[in-house]
Amino acid sequence: MANAPDDSTRRDFAAYYEGIKGRPPRPTLVRAVSSFARPGFAVDLGCGDGRDTIELLRRGWRVLAIDSNEEGIGRLRARDDLPEEAALETRVARIEASAWPPADLINASFVLPLLAPADFGRVWKRIGASLVPGGRFSGQLYGPNDGWADRPGLSILDRDAVERLASGFAVELLDEVESDEPTAKGAPKHWHVFHLVLRKP
Ligand SMILES: C[S@@+](CC[C@H](N)C(=O)[O-])C[C@H]1O[C@@H](n2cnc3c(N)ncnc32)[C@H](O)[C@@H]1O
Repeated sequence: MANAPDDSTRRDFAAYYEGIKGRPPRPTLVRAVSSFARPGFAVDLGCGDGRDTIELLRRGWRVLAIDSNEEGIGRLRARDDLPEEAALETRVARIEASAWPPADLINASFVLPLLAPADFGRVWKRIGASLVPGGRFSGQLYGPNDGWADRPGLSILDRDAVERLASGFAVELLDEVESDEPTAKGAPKHWHVFHLVLRKP
């Protein structure tokens, strides 16, 4: 299939989905969605098994959920807590190769660092351009002290770079956190994460 991940990536995320099963929505998503007076249209980039998508649907939002891994999308579609009348469209596709309609909210939880540096700037521009005025972005970026910062092919950004990305938005949350916690698959890891909620003026 075009844009499909290779087998090792597929296996990695199968273990990840098992590890995060049943976890609540990300605080960044909850913060962003709670700031809207009424439900709108959201795009969930790298939705995985849908922990954030489900929260949006539960709150009456229409959602386009995109993930390159068909198992993630399959798990989302099979969830017991998927509301019956869910206004959900799913797409198995890479973010770099995707376009989406104008949105009130673009959520990208723990996925943008997985983009290749060569693609990151273009995707970030597309996120900004596709938000309607008053729309919000929520998600995470990784900093240079992150345990995965030396892995090739990841987009790692220092604080200055993150602040540059946030300029032009109203910053509702820019929380830089370093911690030592196991990954979803149980491996020890040092995390250096920027948690973001940004509003387009
Ligand atoms: C770390 S998981 C995060 C999943 C979910 N957002 C969460 O917070 O639990 C990253 C997800 O992004 C997907 N992903 C990774 N790179 C991607 C890309 N370039 N385009 C689309 N999805 C991607 C993976 O398949 C995986 O489901």
